[in-house]
Amino acid sequence: MKQILVTGGTGFIGSHTCVELLEQGYQVIVIDNLCNSNAEVLNRIETITQQSVIFYQADLLDKVAIDAIFTKHDIEAVIHFAGLKAVGESTQIPLTYYHNNLTSTLLLLDVMAKHQVFNLVFSSSATVYGENNPIPYVEHFPLSSTSPYGRTKVMIEQFLQDAFVADSRWNVALLRYFNPVGAHPSGLIGEDPNGVPNNLMPYIAQVAVGKRDKLSVFGGDYPTHDGTGVRDYIHVVDLALGHIKALERLAKQTKTSIEAYNLGAGKGYSVLEVIAAFEKACGQPISYGIESRRAGDIAEFYADASKAKAKLEWQVSMNLDDMCRDAWKWQSENPNGFSEG
Ligand code: NAD
Ligand code: WQD
Repeated sequence: MKQILVTGGTGFIGSHTCVELLEQGYQVIVIDNLCNSNAEVLNRIETITQQSVIFYQADLLDKVAIDAIFTKHDIEAVIHFAGLKAVGESTQIPLTYYHNNLTSTLLLLDVMAKHQVFNLVFSSSATVYGENNPIPYVEHFPLSSTSPYGRTKVMIEQFLQDAFVADSRWNVALLRYFNPVGAHPSGLIGEDPNGVPNNLMPYIAQVAVGKRDKLSVFGGDYPTHDGTGVRDYIHVVDLALGHIKALERLAKQTKTSIEAYNLGAGKGYSVLEVIAAFEKACGQPISYGIESRRAGDIAEFYADASKAKAKLEWQVSMNLDDMCRDAWKWQSENPNGFSEG
């Protein structure tokens, strides 16, 4: 049976995608160096699905190891999640980000071509729309980015466009995620950030569970309906299902292509609306204070998600209340994430 290779498959979005792949009958091979994830996730995936993935703890920068995995398995397509993703950290160690995200992708593409594997689903991001496009964001907008992290996404999209122009055997879906949050409804897998969370939902969840005193709301003076930043939050299980739809499209289309798709709900919520929804989910108030804006943030963005609906036959099925309910279940049942104690 043909197998799907998932790089970064023990991470937040990768682990949820492995669950959905297994549940839909795919065989799954995961490569991850565990630099931002925990091997316990593999046991949890097995508990949810009663199936297991084939796991290799390997660094994508280790071309020899990656080549050996492609030699051993009959890989049909690759979903490439692996990468470093913290926007702030990427401004402090940009070269580490460029090396980890760009070099590893170039090596991966080289190995894929050598083994005649040309189907690729790539984890891109809404960050590729930069700060000057109107909302909602549409796939044909010009790309730019304000951080080294974001530039790795813009550059990898460009690598893939150039590779496709040169060799039309490449068959690529660029999935531009908006703000993935929530967790698997089982409460067994979810987002497990190292140290202080950078992102809103995990921070709120840690306040709710008593690990942090209060949330700093970054900016109350944006030109939005309540002054706080507006984002397009998407349940991670909906996002995972988008990857399956993208794989199906790559497999069934008669002509290869490279296409970008926004994966978002197409609707924005403010920070205060997310706090209110989380309070409802956890049944307690979230302590917060309005503070100054965070450098690099923009007021508001959300997706035009109509292309994914039309071409991938995909749209979100879960709302903000579902996202908060599942994030809270995960956080409250696993206060220390995947670590014990
Ligand atoms: P994550 O950090 O939880 O998962 C990424 C995984 O990649 C981790 O398990 C990490 O150990 C692994 N990894 C990193 N570098 C590696 C390397 N050189 N070799 C092998 N494994 C390596 O992140 P996530 O939130 O699941 O994000 C997955 C992808 O989606 C990333 O590419 C990220 O940039 C992108 N993305 C994430 C978000 C988000 O908000 N979470 C939004 C848009 C795009
Ligand atoms: C959401 C809103 C903050 C934390 C980031 C990356 C983006 C993509 C998704 C990878 C904003 C506010 C946040 C806090 C707050 N990742 N906030 N207090 O910045 O939209 O997107 O993750 O590709 O590239 O930049 O997400 O969750 O950090 O912020 O007030 O402690 O919450 O200002 O308005 P963001 P976020």
